[in-house]
Amino acid sequence: MKPLTGIIVAIMLIPSLFVIVGSGADVKRTTNLPQENRFEKGKNIYNEKCVVCHQANGEGIKGAFPPLANSDYLLADKKRAVEQVLNGSNEEMVVNGVTYKTPMPPQVDNHEDAVAVINYVLNAWGNEGGTISVEEVKDIKIKR
Ligand code: HEC
Repeated sequence: MKPLTGIIVAIMLIPSLFVIVGSGADVKRTTNLPQENRFEKGKNIYNEKCVVCHQANGEGIKGAFPPLANSDYLLADKKRAVEQVLNGSNEEMVVNGVTYKTPMPPQVDNHEDAVAVINYVLNAWGNEGGTISVEEVKDIKIKR
């Protein structure tokens, strides 16, 4: 390689270096955020729509509204939880050994909000439920 070609190649590589460094910084910034900020949107949806039944501490009301904090049912299936907020349910379900049969009406009308609120509850009140992406749930049909 001629010296001039080497210099040109080096100059061309500079922008991609910035991209690599820049994206690394982004990832770090998101993972360093405290839990509350990472799930800000979902937290707002929760406080607006879910808190009346599932309560501020996520413990629900035994026998009427099931808990989301440490819920075996929630933590067993993230996608089912997204479907729950999109379409609601009216069936018997057993959560942490207690049977619930109060219906839950649909809560949100799009996959983005459903994923945001479920990612929040999966990581609130000591839950360590991981996260789910919009990509993974986009085949869920919204029934209205
Ligand atoms: C009107 C009261 C009410 C509201 C509002 C409500 N839920 Fe529910 N939720 C219920 C009831 C009742 C059940 C059990 C439904 C059944 O037995 O079919 C339930 C079940 C669930 C479950 C599955 C069971 C469990 O405990 O893990 C999840 C997850 C859930 N709700 C999440 C939410 C989220 C998130 C919101 C807000 C976007 C929300 N709910 C809003 C009453 C409510």
